[in-house]
Amino acid sequence: MEIIIQSTRAAASKLAALNIARLVQAKPNAVLGLATGSTPLMLYTELIRLHREEGLDFSKVRTFNLDEYCDLPPEDPNSYRFFMNENLFKHINIDIANTRVPDGLVQGAEILRHCEKYEEDIRAAGGIDLQVLGIGTNGHIGFNEPGTSLASRTHFTTLTESTRKSNAPYFGGLEAMPYYALTMGIGTIMDVREVVLLAFGESKAEAIAGAAEGALTASNPASSLQMHPSATMFLDTAAAARLVRRDYYEWTFAHKPDWQ
Ligand code: PGA
Repeated sequence: MEIIIQSTRAAASKLAALNIARLVQAKPNAVLGLATGSTPLMLYTELIRLHREEGLDFSKVRTFNLDEYCDLPPEDPNSYRFFMNENLFKHINIDIANTRVPDGLVQGAEILRHCEKYEEDIRAAGGIDLQVLGIGTNGHIGFNEPGTSLASRTHFTTLTESTRKSNAPYFGGLEAMPYYALTMGIGTIMDVREVVLLAFGESKAEAIAGAAEGALTASNPASSLQMHPSATMFLDTAAAARLVRRDYYEWTFAHKPDWQ
């Protein structure tokens, strides 16, 4: 796992955007795996700027999102389909038909079929070239909560109390927050060609330290990326504060973690 530490969220997001821009320039029909949440917002702002000001062309790009809440229609402002349309897709020249988000409205026996079809569609697209990830304070990637099988594929999952509490403010409180979601599995993520994980702020420092320097364990799902041949973490200094090693890009030897 490569780790890149920048002094600000903006600088780290710009570097990550550059990786995506280079890929899309080299492969105009690249398949991007996308994430939601507050973490990738600056990355998406930078991709929009690259499109508007530097002509980055998304017309042939295809996307698969990591996850979606169950029981939220796409027009619900808290659905991840809505998030993607508002924060990225409507501002770039992507063909909306080439953008995929799991359908949180499928019910009962349809759920399994839908998840299998999502995997089939990813394979049919030639696999995901680059996957954007955030990380939960509990180490989750997508909605793969601690304890999820490292071999899991796209599946129906129960959100942990910690994830429900973290995201409750978006829903105006815990009561309105969904209990269930569909998510790509850890196995799905391990199959992508390149992983770009972003993490900012001190609330992520513990999860990042575990993922980057701790034991490989389903208790910290992001630690699975230690086994990925091409995974990079783009961090700000706050998210990097509990890392112990000093061999990271732009990490100065003068820096002391706050606990030293
Ligand atoms: P956040 O969520 O970007 O809103 O912090 C990240 C995650 O839970 O994966």
